[in-house]
Amino acid sequence: MGTLHKYDLQHTQCQVFFETGTGLGHSLKHALDNGNFSTLYSSEIHSPTAERASTLFASYPQVHILHSDSTTALKSILRQVPSTTSIFFFLDAHFPGEVEVGYNYAEHTPNGVTMPLQEELQLIRQLRPGAMDVIVVDDLKLYEDGPFENGQISNSFANIPSSWRNLDFVHALFPDKTIEKSYLDDGYLILKPHSSNFSLKKLSAGYRIKRTIKKNVARLLG
Ligand SMILES: C[S@@+](CC[C@H](N)C(=O)[O-])C[C@H]1O[C@@H](n2cnc3c(N)ncnc32)[C@H](O)[C@@H]1O
Repeated sequence: MGTLHKYDLQHTQCQVFFETGTGLGHSLKHALDNGNFSTLYSSEIHSPTAERASTLFASYPQVHILHSDSTTALKSILRQVPSTTSIFFFLDAHFPGEVEVGYNYAEHTPNGVTMPLQEELQLIRQLRPGAMDVIVVDDLKLYEDGPFENGQISNSFANIPSSWRNLDFVHALFPDKTIEKSYLDDGYLILKPHSSNFSLKKLSAGYRIKRTIKKNVARLLG
């Protein structure tokens, strides 16, 4: 699992953040604190995970936890956001319930896995014509092998059929975007307008130290 938590989100040039797969809310919280987003959406299919996130973000009116599968959430929200408002997408939905303690990929995904990336990207293509959106896809290593910082997946990982492990559909859907790969963490695929200079840059040491101090103070006070 990757996370946006260590990367600088201040220069995305996007006004809205849209995440698929909320999980424990780490990337969402970071987008809230570090990005310049006016509205943040995150969709989560797994009920206990979605409920926990709703509680966690209840005091932030700009954050919307959408308790639904990612494609339903995209269909509903993308129709409301004008294409002149840029969206930063973080596509990270897979393996319902995987952030639960004791989750076992082999046990939970015996008959195929939920990896809705292709449908998500088709919807973005269809509903955001001409938009200057930036799309970051997490866990590139699920789709192909490469020199990932955290290593590759095993052949039998989560019973993913080998025929699913390719990204031809991405290139077919977005011939008009710059497509880059990053091998940090578990790998990221970045799709962006040709004019965008967004990349995954690590946060400065100063920012991380301040964040840790703030967190520890909040813990002590709370
Ligand atoms: C790796 S976790 C997300 C981590 C989170 N994005 C972060 O960076 O902090 C993946 C989440 O996707 C959820 N998920 C799986 N399939 C989904 C789907 N089709 N739609 C929405 N969420 C889904 C899982 O329940 C899990 O909580």
